[in-house]
Amino acid sequence: MLVTKQPVLRRFWYPVIPIQELANGPKAFQLLGHPLVLWLDEQGNPCAAVDRCCHRSAKLSLGKVVRGNIACAYHGWQFNAQGTCVEVPQKGCTVSPNYKIDSYSCTERYGYAWVCLADEALVGIPDIEETRDPNYRSIPEFYETWKCAGLRVMENEFDLAHPAFVHQGTFGTEEHTTPDRMEFTETEWGLHVRGVLGVVNPELQQQNLKMDSVDTVRTLDMTWFMPFTVKLRIAYPNGRVHIIVNTMTPIDDSTSQMVQFCVRNDTEADTPTADAIAFDRAVTLEDKRILESTDFDVPLSPNREQHIFTDKPGLIMRKKLAALLKAHGEVEQTRETAFFIDERLRPEEWSPPTKTTSIGLTHRNLKP
Ligand code: FES
Ligand SMILES: [Fe+2]
Repeated sequence: MLVTKQPVLRRFWYPVIPIQELANGPKAFQLLGHPLVLWLDEQGNPCAAVDRCCHRSAKLSLGKVVRGNIACAYHGWQFNAQGTCVEVPQKGCTVSPNYKIDSYSCTERYGYAWVCLADEALVGIPDIEETRDPNYRSIPEFYETWKCAGLRVMENEFDLAHPAFVHQGTFGTEEHTTPDRMEFTETEWGLHVRGVLGVVNPELQQQNLKMDSVDTVRTLDMTWFMPFTVKLRIAYPNGRVHIIVNTMTPIDDSTSQMVQFCVRNDTEADTPTADAIAFDRAVTLEDKRILESTDFDVPLSPNREQHIFTDKPGLIMRKKLAALLKAHGEVEQTRETAFFIDERLRPEEWSPPTKTTSIGLTHRNLKP
């Protein structure tokens, strides 16, 4: 599936940037192939609009914020959160109603600006209830670009066969190549999996968890929020809970912005923030190395890759995404189908007529 070719994916919320990164002026971000400018209005609320001025197409992210509006760096036109031009500084020029840019729904949650590109989102921002619990604290962890598809990371979080191999440097052990238990519950907009996995407990984790044992057991409550957010609740035998919330915000077909924070039921005195982050840093880098080697064009059909029982969560994700596309009248677009569609959109580049014919026929044949 090529994410930029599936319009229904624009109807979800994605975290695009930590709010504090907007404190010093506007920033650019590309979401599902759409260039955005983000800034803060006078109340400190995040705003999002297309990163292209309607005057001469300059990038608005090169501009500055003036009284809560985004001001273009080229000729100073200003646009508000609704994309309406509110100021043209050139003498004698008045603001026309045609002077406007596309704006998008944007709101703050968990310390990030979240954006939905569609007029109406299909479902709200994932609810992480522990962030409202005073016994828990939230720690921002990672905000970085990964060269892989978000779906690969979602599947990886639920794949309890990979820690024994990928995470040998942190918590994985070949003594536990499969989980002790896995239970699945599909939800309207995702999936919940409970699992139990034996893991090693290295020195840093012994300090972080206040557990001396060299191995331990993770009781996992994993929730997938369609399409690219996961909540991984890890409970240890001594009552410590470490919750990882990760969204792989889609930048383009092959690139995702990894946005991760954790929520823990301990205090800074128990475990310094830097130590909690250090362990998750090592774990995520182990995943990144492997996941960036995978094909970003993840097939939704179960027939294109091979599977074992621990892949069931990933297969459910693929099935639910395929059903989502179908419900919205879309066909899965892959590297092959997108190529043919792109060709059809550029007839002037088709040279010999035979090529036109064969492309037309092939494309039709590929459609179910
Ligand atoms: S290009 Fe933006 S004001 Fe001219
Ligand atoms: Fe992993």
